[in-house]
Order: sequence, then C-alpha cells, then structure tokens
Amino acid sequence: MNQPKEQPYVVTSKSFTAVAINCAAKAGEWIKSKLGTYQQLDIKYSSHDLVTEVDKGAEKMIRNLIATHFPNHSFLGEEGSGIGAAASVKALQEASDAEYLWIVDPIDGTTNYVHGYPYYSVSIALAHQGEVIVGVVYDPSRDELFVAEKGKGAYVHGVPMKVSGESTLQESLISSGFPTDRENMLPLNLAGIGALAPRVRNIRASGSAALQLAYVAAGRLSGFWELNLNAWDVAAGALLVAESGGRVTDTVGKPYHLGVRHFVATNGHIHDELMSVLAEANATGYESR
Ligand code: IPD
Ligand code: CA
Ligand code: CA
Repeated sequence: MNQPKEQPYVVTSKSFTAVAINCAAKAGEWIKSKLGTYQQLDIKYSSHDLVTEVDKGAEKMIRNLIATHFPNHSFLGEEGSGIGAAASVKALQEASDAEYLWIVDPIDGTTNYVHGYPYYSVSIALAHQGEVIVGVVYDPSRDELFVAEKGKGAYVHGVPMKVSGESTLQESLISSGFPTDRENMLPLNLAGIGALAPRVRNIRASGSAALQLAYVAAGRLSGFWELNLNAWDVAAGALLVAESGGRVTDTVGKPYHLGVRHFVATNGHIHDELMSVLAEANATGYESR
C-alpha cells in the first residue's frame, strides 16, 4: 500500500513578528559569541566587501528557523544571493512573485565585525506581496532589539520610537556609508558627503545601514542616505523609520519599495532639503545611468 506523501509539519500559533524576533535574537547572540574568533575571511565584490563563515552560519540558522515555522514562505538572504549589484537585482526579481518573502542580512556591518568594532546588526524583514509588513533589527553589542509592524508602530524593547524633531539640515546629525562599488558609487556618495558636510551639524558613517536606520527611527540620527544598497540592507530599517513617523524614499523622492537602491530615510522635516543638496551635487546616483 502506498503511504500518503508526508506534508511538512507547520508549527502554528506563532506570529510572524515573534519568529522574526526569535531569529534575530538567536542569531545575534551566536554571532556575538564568535566575535574575534572567525576562521575564514573571504573577499566578495572587492576588498571592501567581506564575508566570514559566521555570516554564512547565521544566515543558515535564520533560514532553517523560518522554514520550521513557515515552510511555504520564500527567502532572500545576502549570502544565498550572487555577488554585486546585478546579481542582487536578479535575486530580488526572481523572488518578486513570492506571497511571503523573508529578506535577511545575517550580519549588516561585517567589516566592523571583522575588526571587532562593536557596531553591527542582524536585519530581518518580511514582505507580503512586495510590501514590508515586519522589520526587526538587532544590535547584539548593546542588546537592543528594534521591531516594527506595518500600521502598528515601532518599538525598541517595547518602548515606542519616534523620529527626531530637527527641522533644518543645519541642526541635523545625519549618516551615510562608503559603498562597496568603489569605481562608480563611492565617488558619487563622496560627492554627496562633500556637499552635505558643511550644511549639517555633523555626519556619521558607522558601517551598518540597518542599524543606522534603527537610529533614525529612534531619533538618535536625523536622517540617512546611501547609494547602491541592497534590499536586505534596508527593508527592515525602512519600516522602522516609516512606523516611527519618518519618511523613506529613493534619492529623488519616489516612495520606497524593495527595489530601491539609492536610498534616503529621514525624520521627514529635513527630507526635501537633503535631497535637494544631493541633486545640486549630482549625487543622487541616477546621474550615472
Ligand atoms: C554594508 C553595510 C554598510 C554599507 C555597505 C553595505 P554588509 O553591508 O550596510 O554600512 O555602507 O554599503 O554593503 O556588507 O556589512 O552586510
Ligand atoms: Ca548589508
Ligand atoms: Ca551582510
């Protein structure tokens, strides 16, 4: 007699957000326990783009845990995607019909992690039909867990977050990064930094886009922009900022979606001013097309 084909067992009664939190906390704790002891350091796109076996192990851990709860959901993780912008765009396109898509950066800030600089994060987002509905960013160094649910606000350890109140660039602390594409995108982002630096209170480039976005949500930074980011760098952080009352667009003001690579998120008040400085400096990232 033929045995009926076994269906995967689905653990019920766990919310999407609870699973995202559980994954981020578990992976984050493991990543932190391995700090300073990684064995294998590989170069990806360039010598500025690194990966260790800890990045890969953390992604596997998160992927397996998500599959235990939601075996029918799709998964887009940095380490399972190809290297470079074109591969990342392709991986996102291939996942674009997924009803539920988990978007994961197991360590955002690998360069910091490798150097023992305690500013890196685990970033986990869940999109439903292309729209991010859950975003979790975990900072293991400070044990800070940032959580947002679409339409329900954003919280850090249960305390509601709100973006900062600065209304001009002059009084703003803003943040950016140094894109891994040193040939095309780095010079453009540097042009933006050069144009903005004299206009703002100060600029930080702390090396984890996801965590910088959590800081915009928490009101610790007034805004953030960077060219050529991937969906896994910003999907969770974009929802954190939006649910904390901020604004999230591309560098020319179009609303955020998963394919946006030239990315701006602010407290809302300084958004237009920041974008107009980028435009004046020809540093939106769209000029190179
Ligand atoms: C990087 C970080 C960094 C940003 C780079 C990203 P990774 O991600 O978010 O802040 O400047 O553009 O690639 O490689 O550490 O996951
Ligand atoms: Ca990243
Ligand atoms: Ca990463």
